[in-house]
Amino acid sequence: MTGNAAFEIYLAWSERTLVVAANETALEVLIKAGVPIDPGCQAGACGFCATDYVEGDVVHKDGCLNIAEREHTFCPCVSRARTRIVLAA
Ligand code: FES
Repeated sequence: MTGNAAFEIYLAWSERTLVVAANETALEVLIKAGVPIDPGCQAGACGFCATDYVEGDVVHKDGCLNIAEREHTFCPCVSRARTRIVLAA
């Protein structure tokens, strides 16, 4: 498989489903939807964008979170997912 696949992010607090297309990042989609996230380095290095999730098979591509943090946090600037990601308030 080459390139990225699209995936969905569900915002539990507003019951909205966002689609992250293959050619965009989850960070771009979340910011566009009004979710207040610090865009930081946008390269998976600073952790400023780190966002908690409660469900989802995340493909972590950052270089700043440790294994324990990755269980419940992802960096939407670079990471993607095999399934829908659910964000709770
Ligand atoms: S913005 Fe720096 S890790 Fe995402």
